[in-house]
Amino acid sequence: MHAVAPRPLPRTPAVSGLLETLAFFRDPEFAADRFRRHGDLWETRLLGQRTVFLRGEQAVTDLFAQGDALEGWWPESVRRLLGSLSLANRQGADHRARRRVVGQLFTAAALRRYAPAIVGLVDALCRDLAASPGPVALAGRLRRFAFAVIAGPVLGLDAGERDALFLDFETWTQGLFSFPVALPGSPFAQALRARQRLLERIGAVLARAQEAAAAGRPQAAGGLDLLAGGLDEAGLPLADADVVEQLLLLLFAGYETTASSLVCLLLSLLQHPTELAWLQEELGGISWPPAPGEAATAFDPSRAPRLDAVVKEVMRLIPPVGGFFRYTRRPVTLAGVAIPADRVVQVSIAASHRLGSPEADLDAFRPRRHLEAGGCGALLLPYGGGERVCLGKALAELEIRLLSVGLLKQLDLELLPDQDLSLAIIPSPTPRDGLRVGLSRR
Ligand code: HEM
Repeated sequence: MHAVAPRPLPRTPAVSGLLETLAFFRDPEFAADRFRRHGDLWETRLLGQRTVFLRGEQAVTDLFAQGDALEGWWPESVRRLLGSLSLANRQGADHRARRRVVGQLFTAAALRRYAPAIVGLVDALCRDLAASPGPVALAGRLRRFAFAVIAGPVLGLDAGERDALFLDFETWTQGLFSFPVALPGSPFAQALRARQRLLERIGAVLARAQEAAAAGRPQAAGGLDLLAGGLDEAGLPLADADVVEQLLLLLFAGYETTASSLVCLLLSLLQHPTELAWLQEELGGISWPPAPGEAATAFDPSRAPRLDAVVKEVMRLIPPVGGFFRYTRRPVTLAGVAIPADRVVQVSIAASHRLGSPEADLDAFRPRRHLEAGGCGALLLPYGGGERVCLGKALAELEIRLLSVGLLKQLDLELLPDQDLSLAIIPSPTPRDGLRVGLSRR
């Protein structure tokens, strides 16, 4: 018996790649269209780089099983704005050591510590919203909320420090997926300057936490004390500049994506009143606020299965991160297709989430599919997977559950007419007009 030879990789007609690159930036259907034409794996050329797109369970499973042949990869703009010390830009043992250090901020015990403060932030947001004299654009409010969670309960910044950091972060984020040339005044040049200010401010926060620890004073707030004793791959403590770049990554990764999932969850429910009513039936049997000792687990999937199904369905149809990347150091075979070395591989989360049998009707918003025997019928990977799976998954899920229950139990929202509800996709999906709603107390 001969092993079946891998099939060749289909290629889009891309000579210089210029037309493909333009289409990639302009056409929201770029990947979906090519998946239809070329199947589940195909190669194109973007910004001069040969890039393989893939979707679906077999290819993704094979990819995660061949971690040794792969590296993490981010576009040049992201790489430079995150910095060379960032764990996102590191490989192998360097990467694993930093994941271990930063992972200490997201253990079950750490989440129990943050949960009561997150409940406090949910209530403060609801009070603010209820006191607003007129309609409100929710997207901006939810961005600030998500930023406050990672900056406050997790990193221990007070409200003044949070505000100072937030504006620089918004500028920095604008540059993340921009053209990486620092022409004066360009989004990338502004983002590089914002990066410098952010590093200085985060450095000062870290120094303060270290002084408190050295003086034996308990941490006033936040989890930075949990990082004490973090060691690098050689067993040495990480340098401050190293830790600061990890914190920069966390602040960004911690709010951009979560804010997107929150606003898309509310948008989807407001567009599907029957599903909202179905969820409200469950919330009717749940009390808010949760008892302080229970806040981290009170709305777990076992206690609020409908909420879990709604969150899963929103993340399936509108994943906050549409795809993630790897780089092939050696040739690999994925779903029976040969992928040469030196390729960027983009795993399409969005396309994988909609790939299944026609009967599953995977383009429809139908949260109940997640409670049916056999599951939803598609591979779900909103948080990526393998050695680089999202580090903040547990925090994100906790935050989404607390905000959804707290807000939907306290406020009635009404979608205002005459607004653009279509989604801007980069860096993370958000409704173009900011999701304008009328609000009243329940
Ligand atoms: C709904 C919210 C979120 C989603 C959908 C999300 C999704 C993702 C995805 C798809 C990746 C890439 C995984 C890969 O390459 O395989 C990632 C990586 C990462 N995420 Fe998240 N994320 C979310 C929230 C958070 C939060 C709250 C934090 C931390 C505060 C966080 C921290 C990170 C970090 C540090 C990485 C890099 C991991 C590595 O390279 O080893 N994320 N996330």
